[in-house]
This record gives sequence, C-alpha cells and structure tokens, in this order.
Amino acid sequence: MTNQIWNPREYMKNADFVAKLGEPVIELLEPKAGERILDLGCGTGILTKRLADMGCSVVGVDSSPEMAAAARELGVEAFPADAQTLKMEEKFDAVISNAAIHWMSDHYSVARRVWNLLKPGGRFAAECGGEGCIRIIREGMKISLIKRGIDYKARNPWKYPELGVFSKILENQGFQVKFIARIDRPTPLPAGLRGWLEVFSASHTEGFSEAERENFYQEVEAYCRPTLYDEEKGWTADYVRLRFLAVKPAE
Ligand code: BEZ
Repeated sequence: MTNQIWNPREYMKNADFVAKLGEPVIELLEPKAGERILDLGCGTGILTKRLADMGCSVVGVDSSPEMAAAARELGVEAFPADAQTLKMEEKFDAVISNAAIHWMSDHYSVARRVWNLLKPGGRFAAECGGEGCIRIIREGMKISLIKRGIDYKARNPWKYPELGVFSKILENQGFQVKFIARIDRPTPLPAGLRGWLEVFSASHTEGFSEAERENFYQEVEAYCRPTLYDEEKGWTADYVRLRFLAVKPAE
C-alpha cells in the first residue's frame, strides 16, 4: 500500500460530498452535548465542526498535516497523527470516523488503538469504504496502469474491509458490535469522475508527466463511462460503505 498525497483545496473543490454524506455515522453515534469525542481521520474537519456545533468537545486527527491544518482553519482542535499508531493519555466518550479507515492498511491496530482511547462504555461509530467499493473505477485504473507496466497493487492506497472480517476484528478486541452493515451507495460525483480522479488518484499517477496523467484520466473515464455515466445524471461512483457501531463494555 502507498500513501495518498492530500491537497485540501482540491479536496474541498471536488470531494466535499464525502463529509456531507457522513450524516448517518453521526446518527449512529447519537452524540450528546458535553461529550469528549475523537474524530479519526478528520480530513478537512467538516464533521468535526458539525459535532462541535452540537455542543461536543471534539478533537480531530488526520495522518495528513495539511488536512489537520485545514480542519484547524475551521476553528476545531485537530492535529496530525496516524490512527494505527496513535497513543493519547486522554480517554474519550466516543470515537467517530468517516471515510477514513479504508485508507489504513492495518485494521487490527486501528481497533486496538480505538479500544485504548475509549472510556469503559465508550462508543466507536464509523463508516468507511466496504468490500467491493469503487470496483469499476479501480478496474479502470488497474488496466490503465498495467498498460504502462506499473504495478497497481504497489500504488493502491485502499483496503476495503469485509463485513465478517471487520466484525471479527472488533469482537476479538473486546467490542460489542451493536450494528454493522454493508451498504451499496451509488454516489453522484459533483465534479465528475475527472474531478474525483484529480483528488484521489494522486498515488496512482505519482511521477507522471502532465500528458501521461491526462491520458490516464481519459482512459479511466473511457473504461467507466458505459456503467457509471448517464447523460442526464452525470457521473455516479460505485461506492459501497461499511457502517458500524461498537461499544467497549462498561467495567
Ligand atoms: C470512499 O470513501 O470509499 C473513498 C473515498 C476516496 C477514494 C476512494 C474511496
């Protein structure tokens, strides 16, 4: 797995729908005013701010210093940290995470770190890409990279957990899984597939010239067009979500 290069400005322009679609995780968490909450993979801080506006005391962490800085610009507490290695003295009432866990390769470590960060009775509510997410887009990218003799796997930044596997990871850590579901969520892309690729295929096209990158975008679009493009609706990505609520039992 490789690392994504994040550009908060591009993200806000082409992909702010990611945070806007995070509402179901907030509903699952049922945050209460005054609770201390950690936002894991806070990105540009839109959900972090939403929780702060609900009266929660929130801190966001993101592996990208640029994204954590963008979140701070929204007026929320945020700092750069990798969720797979994160250690803090403080214990939280809840941990929330939206569209971040599939960027992390070691889901066992994520479950262990979250467990250690929660108070007894604390909740872990999250949504991430689930098994099969953006299958068609990934196929398009893979074919285009293979044509260039590039190892797709070495550039793939995502690991989409299977429901059964992730459920076991949580349970083996000691969590009680209150809810878990794999949800097909076809997702309109306001900036088209091209805008999406500009933000999210940075690791796939690392080292490409402008012309090579342009060619890559065109090839992926051509591959995906028959299934993901509609003359009236525009582009829709084949997103699949894994959504869950797990609780650390009270002592
Ligand atoms: C997702 O939220 O599933 C996702 C976001 C960016 C790139 C790929 C997938």
